Amino acid sequence: MAGGFDIVALIVAAGKGERAGGGLPKQYRPIGGKPMLAHAIQAFSRHPAIDRIQLVIGAGQETLCAEAMAASGAPPALFLPSVTGGATRRESVMRGLEAIGKARLVMIHDAARPFLPAAVIDRLVASLGGAEGAVPAIPVADTLARGGPELGEVVPRDGLVRVQTPQSFVFDAILAAHRAWPGEREATDDAQILRAAGHAVAIVAGDPALEKITFQEDVMTAEQRLGARMVTRVG
Ligand code: CTP
Ligand code: MG
Repeated sequence: MAGGFDIVALIVAAGKGERAGGGLPKQYRPIGGKPMLAHAIQAFSRHPAIDRIQLVIGAGQETLCAEAMAASGAPPALFLPSVTGGATRRESVMRGLEAIGKARLVMIHDAARPFLPAAVIDRLVASLGGAEGAVPAIPVADTLARGGPELGEVVPRDGLVRVQTPQSFVFDAILAAHRAWPGEREATDDAQILRAAGHAVAIVAGDPALEKITFQEDVMTAEQRLGARMVTRVG
């Protein structure tokens, strides 16, 4: 497209990973022999629809990021220059969008979701006909109830879904929505920011593999999952 890219993957990796602990921020912890961030990079780099990858990283993490880029095996020409993130996820996304400048679509993804099936990217690409945004989501299967010291009342789960990333957007629409969002207000994802600007967001089928790695035990489960896969392949 004239003066911009077609589809850019924007990966936010500027968090501190406080809940996962362990010294090194979780996105740089090794799983399956390479930094967590390398897995999402690899998934996007192998997908033919993705033109460029924009990384948003923490201050002073240039070397860690370069190692993850190299471990991903993605060609260096695929990367736009990395930018430094902000104090919140929303700020980090905003800085990434401003750095990209111009594109037709952007897929915004958490570095903390390393297992990204190509089929989810396919569904997101296919879904953006009538809506300005699309998200992968999976239905809630467990009983939902209020917590506390004692179990509280059940919250009806009918029609509830768990929303994942990557989230796909018409670039101009999500950039304008981010600029219009009140700076001090928290947002856990970008689809809610697009909706607040009055746009529709489509839902495509998500994937259990896309679960976010949040706690220390999630890092260990991810490592075990990859270890098991490798054993299967060898045997
Ligand atoms: N993120 C970011 N900039 C921030 C905060 C988060 O780029 N200021 C990114 C994280 O690196 C992660 C994604 O947003 O890939 C989802 O955030 P989360 O799982 O909350 O990661 P952290 O903020 O790093 O973890 P924690 O909240 O436990 O500190
Ligand atoms: Mg966080």
